[in-house]
Amino acid sequence: MQLDDIDRVGVVGAGTMGNGIAQVAAASGYDVVMRDVEQQFVSAGFDDIDESLGRLVARDELTRSEADRARDRIEGTTDLADLSDCDLVVEAVTEDMDVKQSVFEDLADTCRTETVLATNTSTLSITTIASVVDRAERVLGLHFMNPVPVMKGVEVVVGEKTGADTLTLGHAFAKDLGKETWEADDKPGFVVNRVLMPWINEGIRAYDEGVAGMADIDRGLTLGTNVPMGPLELADHIGLDVVLDASETLHEELGDRYKPAYLLKRKVAAGDLGKKTGAGFYEYD
Ligand code: 3HC
Repeated sequence: MQLDDIDRVGVVGAGTMGNGIAQVAAASGYDVVMRDVEQQFVSAGFDDIDESLGRLVARDELTRSEADRARDRIEGTTDLADLSDCDLVVEAVTEDMDVKQSVFEDLADTCRTETVLATNTSTLSITTIASVVDRAERVLGLHFMNPVPVMKGVEVVVGEKTGADTLTLGHAFAKDLGKETWEADDKPGFVVNRVLMPWINEGIRAYDEGVAGMADIDRGLTLGTNVPMGPLELADHIGLDVVLDASETLHEELGDRYKPAYLLKRKVAAGDLGKKTGAGFYEYD
């Protein structure tokens, strides 16, 4: 399968990552089917898309009619069977191996054998996810960054059995969405989260151990190293539950240097998950 053969794109999961991926695919001209398990999640996904498209129109990155056409190209569903004629599917469900494998089993039953199946996993093994399907050569990682409509990079992850054609197509597809790519082997956290998660955890520990206040840690890193957000602010942006999940996988696979910060676990236990719950390290309106 080549880029020209891809007309219809499926996205499994209408959460932050899934709806962002659906939006950028539709804005690039693909017909998109966005599926989640309940209608309320599909509707919430469309709300995010409407808001994001509105922001892109407000800063002249899209015209109103381009945004409307993109929106019209996205079909929402709760039925996985509606993805049966998709040429490429990106899975963006919760970071749980059992859940992802079950989605992949269903996709293998539902989609044609030539359909490319991508996972947006941030840290889990592509090879293990692919092991439950009869077409592991067509499985790869396409790791988008949050917020998907704004971030320029997509990490292309190579599983043990990912075919060369699938990889070429993965890069070409991401580039067609206006993204730039890099390639990572199927090792825990790939490139981005392997390096980013310890950075965030060290920022949290520095705060917990009294090195500086939260805002000074974030200012130190933004002003001192030219990143757009410091570690605590970025943790809130990503979601503390997502950071903890990723950190725990890395810790399990790579040992103590990846141990999650104690304060991160305490915040997640308290339900303070960052921007999405109105409080994390900082408070949000
Ligand atoms: N859709 C459309 N536009 C959006 C948007 C969205 N979802 N989110 C932000 N924007 C736009 C805003 O409208 C704004 O446009 P303007 O400058 O013309 O007003 C612009 O982006 C900047 O937004 P804000 O003014 O709200 O705030 P910032 O200047 O702080 O930018 C940010 C927001 C783009 C998120 C920036 O802070 C940033 O780049 N932060 C770092 C994000 C990052 O590192 N992401 C990767 C995380 S790691 C990851 O995702 C991997 C995973 O596996 C954990």
